[in-house]
Amino acid sequence: MSTGHPLGIDVGGSGIKGAPVDLEKGDFAQKRLRIDTPLVSTPEAVCEVIALVVEHFDEVRSDSPIGVTIPGVVQHGVVKTAANIDKSWIGCEIEKLLEDRLQHDVVVVNDADAAGVGELNYGAARGHDGLVILTTLGTGIGTAIFNQGVLVPNSELGHLEIGGSDAEPRTASSAKTREGLSYAEWAERLQLYYRHLEDLMWPDLFVVGGGVSKDADEFLPLLDIRTPIIPATLKNKAGIIGAAVLAAASQRRHGRHTG
Ligand code: BGC
Repeated sequence: MSTGHPLGIDVGGSGIKGAPVDLEKGDFAQKRLRIDTPLVSTPEAVCEVIALVVEHFDEVRSDSPIGVTIPGVVQHGVVKTAANIDKSWIGCEIEKLLEDRLQHDVVVVNDADAAGVGELNYGAARGHDGLVILTTLGTGIGTAIFNQGVLVPNSELGHLEIGGSDAEPRTASSAKTREGLSYAEWAERLQLYYRHLEDLMWPDLFVVGGGVSKDADEFLPLLDIRTPIIPATLKNKAGIIGAAVLAAASQRRHGRHTG
């Protein structure tokens, strides 16, 4: 049986997760598969795990496009930065590598951009027409910018300088865990971060994703900023769903080019 659904695959520091996505529902068409990220997470090792995920979903048609997220800048299929992953990713022509390996059309995008696309199409920012910034708070801080529903890819606003240093290592939720901060202590750092971001970008809405967004009630009400700020709603599905949306959109624009 073929489903024709695009596949979304989210490459994270600890797990590689994928599922076929039903674009009408904005949800997984089958139960998600998760495989541990290889300890030495070079592009080649990660490609092999991605191949296992694709093979697992034998109902995915051979012409189904695949969207993959990476925690770094990805410009025209080439990885440009690797803040929290193996440095051997930098310069890797990941889209080509995956298309050759999988014989599917593949689109590789930044993880926060994919999560933002998921939230804008089906989640917290659904249908929002203004300037929306999604921030993901996790090991790092990812950002995605949308204006009138259009993504401006590869924003790296997690690395804004605040007080002369990169905001990410002090402000990501990994800093809260590492330093044992209370929500109130952590919120003081978030306050500086979001104030700075709103003064530079003047968004209409902030959406806050990442695992910690499930506890948004503990810290979002502590923030004193002028921009409305709301938690993401697709939780850890956002990246997979957004990657599948982007893969399907790319195949519609360019036609099928592998297989
Ligand atoms: C990277 C971003 C990524 C974010 C979340 C940052 O360190 O620079 O590209 O989106 O982490 O994974």
